[in-house]
Amino acid sequence: MLQRIQPAARLEGLLRLPGDKSISHRYAMLAALAEGQTRIHNYSTGADCASTLACLRALGIAVDREGTEVAISGRGLDGFAAPSETLAAGNSGSTIRMLSGILAAQPFASRIAGDESLSRRPMQRIIQPLEAMGAAIAARDGRFPPLEIHPARLRAIDYALPVASAQVKTCVLFAGLFTDGTTLVREPARTRDHTEIALREFGAEVDVRARAISVHGRPRLRALDLTVPGDLSSAAFFLVAALLLPGSHIVIEGVGLNPTRSELLDFLIAMGADLRVRNLAVHAGEPVGDIEVRHSPVRGGTIEKDVTAALIDEIPVLAVLGAASDEGLVVRDAAELRIKETDRIATVADNLARMGVTVEVFPDGLRVPGRQRFRPAELDSFGDHRIAMAFAVAALAAGGESVLRGAEAAAVSFPEFFGLLEGLRA
Ligand code: S3P
Repeated sequence: MLQRIQPAARLEGLLRLPGDKSISHRYAMLAALAEGQTRIHNYSTGADCASTLACLRALGIAVDREGTEVAISGRGLDGFAAPSETLAAGNSGSTIRMLSGILAAQPFASRIAGDESLSRRPMQRIIQPLEAMGAAIAARDGRFPPLEIHPARLRAIDYALPVASAQVKTCVLFAGLFTDGTTLVREPARTRDHTEIALREFGAEVDVRARAISVHGRPRLRALDLTVPGDLSSAAFFLVAALLLPGSHIVIEGVGLNPTRSELLDFLIAMGADLRVRNLAVHAGEPVGDIEVRHSPVRGGTIEKDVTAALIDEIPVLAVLGAASDEGLVVRDAAELRIKETDRIATVADNLARMGVTVEVFPDGLRVPGRQRFRPAELDSFGDHRIAMAFAVAALAAGGESVLRGAEAAAVSFPEFFGLLEGLRA
């Protein structure tokens, strides 16, 4: 789909966002392992979280969905049925990596596959710890989807993650639920902790010490009534748009503000952004609040080391902001970006260059000098939702109409994105 994007003078308004993608996946999978019916409100509207529900249905779990209301009838840890078809993870790395931790412990075989992009993403990072737990998994070329997962009994492990990845952490912790012991995962840097929080809410015994997380095997998980907070990673596009366009003022209500995700806000505030958080509350262990942002000049900065892991999904749109900042943006220690839905270092740099923005590329990051202007351009999402949305935002600040090829990719996490953006034009 070709989307034409006109520049915007400024953005103004109040909005609520669909549910957080990361939390939606976790609630759905844990609901399927709990005993009884879990109700989830404000479930993510993205295609990725729909893939998770489709996989759970194929595993014999009753899932009723009406818009953002989802009811999942869990049948306990041993309640899955052998699927009669290949499980379809679509574009979703979270679905394949997190669900594989559960599938590896089943008494039946399963096969899980994804789209073209997902079929190129590395699975060795989950296969290795799962095999150490006793799983039997065959992958294309030993490392890519589809995965053929054979029946196995798993044992608990003590595992140090070689890369900071919340998906891999979750995969191992979920697998640990099916063991007779205590599974321990050590992280090289802190990553989003929605799994630890959700596991506790559902009734598992979880212990968190510094960057070591353990879970006891064979818990009885209880059904819950849950509301998913608005997605902070989706909010990022509007926050950056407001910071780019003079005179903008927007309020986003009910956004998830988990400290392992809200580095985004700290980073923007440190750059000088006029940004406030209000009405803080906690739902099912997850902090939620409203974010108010007004246009303000931003200094720019450096994203490196542990901060990179905390901002990994927001880097594309922050790179856009960097070009308009005073001092520019430097991103390092971000080689992981190269193995997301696209090579995001390459796809960000490509689109910035199309807009006439100077950018320097490193193997593990990029540097975008500040005080640059965006030229209208023919942009491309390359099939990546966050690239589509980041460059729709950049196009708002260009001096004329831009065209975005593959804009439909936004629906992977945020189908309402373009509509909500249009509604904020003042
Ligand atoms: C996610 C973890 C991150 C992130 C992805 C969602 C999660 O991936 O990029 O969008 O929900 O756990 P990695 O675990 O590969 O870093």
